[in-house]
Amino acid sequence: MEYREWAHQILTSGELSDKLFCPEILTDENPGPALLIAEPVRTTDLQFRKHTRKDRLPSLIALGSPDKRAVCLHRFAGHELLAVEIMAHALLAFPEAPKNFRKGLAHTLKEEQEHVRLYIQRLSQMGVRFGDLPLYRHFWSYVHYINTPLKYISMMSMTFEMANLDFAPIYGSAFASHGDLESEKLMKQIFTDEIQHVAFGSKWLKNFKDPSISPWETWLQNIHHRLTPSRAKGPQYYPEHRRLAGVDEEWICQLKDS
Ligand SMILES: [Fe+2]
Ligand SMILES: [Fe+2]
Repeated sequence: MEYREWAHQILTSGELSDKLFCPEILTDENPGPALLIAEPVRTTDLQFRKHTRKDRLPSLIALGSPDKRAVCLHRFAGHELLAVEIMAHALLAFPEAPKNFRKGLAHTLKEEQEHVRLYIQRLSQMGVRFGDLPLYRHFWSYVHYINTPLKYISMMSMTFEMANLDFAPIYGSAFASHGDLESEKLMKQIFTDEIQHVAFGSKWLKNFKDPSISPWETWLQNIHHRLTPSRAKGPQYYPEHRRLAGVDEEWICQLKDS
């Protein structure tokens, strides 16, 4: 199956099984013309709902309650599905991007599909079905802005995925502190993969950028104006996790102070 056909199916079939489908053999011989899909098709239970203040994530101290932990895991599963759809968007929107970039993107997309599966598995052990709780548009509201591979890298890999280098271990430890070692194990897996996703972004940001501008400045110029640098980190900042992803030392220092 071609990347284009695969990505198209992910965005235009509402069925979760199609969004999580990955053929054994994927090729990229005919990326075709750029294609922009304004909104992913989703079955009724997976539709985006309006996010309000009361829909905030439960606080870390509330995670002694299995129901609150399930709310967090369900939300994270929603983020993973959005990542799958945004990566499918990038495969369709940037047919002329370098082949190796597209290959790395497709590889990351497969890992995001696996993340959705892992969260769904854990949720079902807790008696919750994916789609039973609300899902939000969140990252997808920026898709119209992601019109170059550099903006994709800046928004997705170097902002949302980078923030997970803090959030995944923070939530992992909170789950563990309440005795939920299964959920902690899952967060560890996500964290390990996320390091590679940020490493992919860091490498391609350097490849795409103007050589006279630093990676940090390039990133600032390519994130949406509504996002502040603080969106790329969690309530606790772990510089060493960014080092594991090969992020520049200048960047790590600048982000710390942002
Ligand atoms: Fe993920
Ligand atoms: Fe990721």
